[in-house]
Amino acid sequence: MGIQPSHAGRGFEAENGKILTQTVIFTFNSRPFTGYRGEILAAALRRGGIVALGVSAVDGTPRGAFCLMGSCQECLVLVGGVPRNACRAVVDDGLCVTSIAPLGGGS
Ligand code: FES
Repeated sequence: MGIQPSHAGRGFEAENGKILTQTVIFTFNSRPFTGYRGEILAAALRRGGIVALGVSAVDGTPRGAFCLMGSCQECLVLVGGVPRNACRAVVDDGLCVTSIAPLGGGS
């Protein structure tokens, strides 16, 4: 599913077999992260150590990618100010991603 790890240090292999090699810088809650242009945002954040993308409006518990196919809405974030599912958005240079519900403690 999505993008699979490829040979170490040589990029990621997309499901269409294309190797993504161009690294880009994007931000999540003002923290810089490195990803591959065209990489699924949720995967790039996960690789960067980010699991919680926001918090539940009901009980404040951390929420993150669950289904990875656009169904559960647990990965909803703001990408350039527009609500998007992190499992359906792709990384690009300068992308500005923020949690919809602020995370405590800067995670
Ligand atoms: S992980 Fe379920 S919609 Fe993105």
